[in-house]
Amino acid sequence: MVYITRREQFSAAHKLFRKEWSEEKNNEVFGKCSNPNWHGHNYELFVTVKGEQNPDTSFVANLSTISVILREKVISKLDHKNINLDVDFMKGKTATTETLAVEIWKQIETPINQLGCTLHCVKIRETENNYVEYFGS
Ligand code: NI
Repeated sequence: MVYITRREQFSAAHKLFRKEWSEEKNNEVFGKCSNPNWHGHNYELFVTVKGEQNPDTSFVANLSTISVILREKVISKLDHKNINLDVDFMKGKTATTETLAVEIWKQIETPINQLGCTLHCVKIRETENNYVEYFGS
């Protein structure tokens, strides 16, 4: 079994808040990410797939093909967008990196697995110091 990873980048705005909470409570729980007038991050997305090497190509999967899937299903919907307002698969959800990782997994699992490999991990880095990994459960 070999694991391969494709990295993509996107820039997006968000805020973390629960509308049933006061501004003070949101600020207490979510800190700077609750700023009412939005803010942005330069996100990095790492998608890892696993599988056996194809005997003809030696590839687990073609990373260029994986990149096309990621751009079509995820990056085009997120890049230079407002995650809370613009992104269909994040509608009505709290725009944490955790939720983003889970929802991105749902968007790409089927097309990735159709390549003959298995989606292993969706990792998103939100800042230099913070990243989230989701392994499908
Ligand atoms: Ni933030």
